[in-house]
Amino acid sequence: MQYSDILMDHFKNPRNQGEIKNADGIGEVGNPVCGDMMKIYLKVGKNNYGQEIVEDIKFQTLGCGAAIASSSMLTEMAKGLTLDEAKKITRQQIADKLGGLPKEKIHCSVLAGEGLKKAIADYRGEIFKESAEAKDVENAHC
Ligand code: FES
Repeated sequence: MQYSDILMDHFKNPRNQGEIKNADGIGEVGNPVCGDMMKIYLKVGKNNYGQEIVEDIKFQTLGCGAAIASSSMLTEMAKGLTLDEAKKITRQQIADKLGGLPKEKIHCSVLAGEGLKKAIADYRGEIFKESAEAKDVENAHC
């Protein structure tokens, strides 16, 4: 399977790449399959209903093109969502938005979602628990 044009665009022109100074939450995760790293920075705001939302989000990735594109897409998907909605973004949703991912690259899309969940846990002072889909990937092979 070839990379889609959408994926290539996010890889070559990543959205929201970088660091947020004074971030409200930071999530740093490693990919157990390949050893790549990802950091998500989160700024939390409030919507008109007083719910906490992702006001700003940035990422830094030391990973492959699929991981960069997945992170870029995730930040676009998460911005403006409530924290609870953002936590529910799945690797499948990220892959679908990117026009699909080759099977051997599915694990790359997990990093971004896990980083965001960890950043939210960091903001809330909660203990981060790896999601089922991340555990599932640990058993996968490149
Ligand atoms: S994130 Fe490591 S190969 Fe894609």
